[in-house]
Amino acid sequence: MMLFAGKKALVFGVANKYSIAWGIAQALHAEGAEVGFCYGIPELEKRVRPLAESLNARLIEECNVNDDAALERVFRCAEEAYGALDVVVHSIAYAERRDLDGRFVETSRAGFNTALETSAYSLVALARHAERLMPSGGSILAMTALGSVRVLPHYNVMGVAKAALEASVRYLAHDLGPRGIRVNAISAGPIKTLAASGVAGFRDTYRLHEQASPLRTLVTPEDVGNTAIWLCSDLARTVTGQVVYVDSGWSIMGAHTLPSEE
Ligand SMILES: NC(=O)c1ccc[n+]([C@@H]2O[C@H](COP(=O)([O-])OP(=O)(O)OC[C@H]3O[C@@H](n4cnc5c(N)ncnc54)[C@H](O)[C@@H]3O)[C@@H](O)[C@H]2O)c1
Repeated sequence: MMLFAGKKALVFGVANKYSIAWGIAQALHAEGAEVGFCYGIPELEKRVRPLAESLNARLIEECNVNDDAALERVFRCAEEAYGALDVVVHSIAYAERRDLDGRFVETSRAGFNTALETSAYSLVALARHAERLMPSGGSILAMTALGSVRVLPHYNVMGVAKAALEASVRYLAHDLGPRGIRVNAISAGPIKTLAASGVAGFRDTYRLHEQASPLRTLVTPEDVGNTAIWLCSDLARTVTGQVVYVDSGWSIMGAHTLPSEE
């Protein structure tokens, strides 16, 4: 019996075949879920539609998560297509490129607001809509990164946004728990995606993880997808409000040794 047989999932944040959300969508589909897709801007449709259609998606909609009317509309579409939802995936982040380089202290008010609204508040808005379509309970999953709790050079305002996202996961888990809706996050190690390429110095981070994480291996969207199906399925039915690290063990270290220094 597949873990998500007969279940419906709505995935926000596929931009292309490298997206973490695509890894999660494929894993959910492989376990029997019917998956719908929401993408952020019209320009992405040409990439997202073929991917979504390859999984026989019935719902493929544009949705800027900062637009309340767009959110209202796509959750109405989801209700029409599926009736109810079992899983909602939030795999979205955005900050101005200039705020992902240099000194955090230079972050502008507007840049701060943009990053926090798109990358953290959007989970709250999504969860509010999802709650209405999860009358028998469900699972909401967000994507975060170590920059929420440790300083990652250049990650800057995105680290602050991820801290807000993780706190939101806990408050949402408290609010929605009595309705049987679980809310969790996966904190992934660096993965080469469109969003990651916007962070200055990303290539070095990537190389360092491969060489110095305890498992000496990089995380893939498939790895995140596999953890997501555990976290979103009944296998994790008493897990909520948590941040699960999928990072080859990087976050347990207090110092990192390069192979040449061993
Ligand atoms: N790649 C990594 O190294 C890494 C590591 C840890 C966590 N994450 C997180 O994973 C998530 C997915 O990122 P990714 O690395 O797959 O990159 P990605 O570029 O493939 O995905 C980011 C998505 O956010 C969407 N988005 C941005 N603004 C939006 C808006 N206003 N409305 C709707 N959608 C919007 C983009 O369209 C895109 O689909 C993000 O939350 C990111 O912070 C990434």
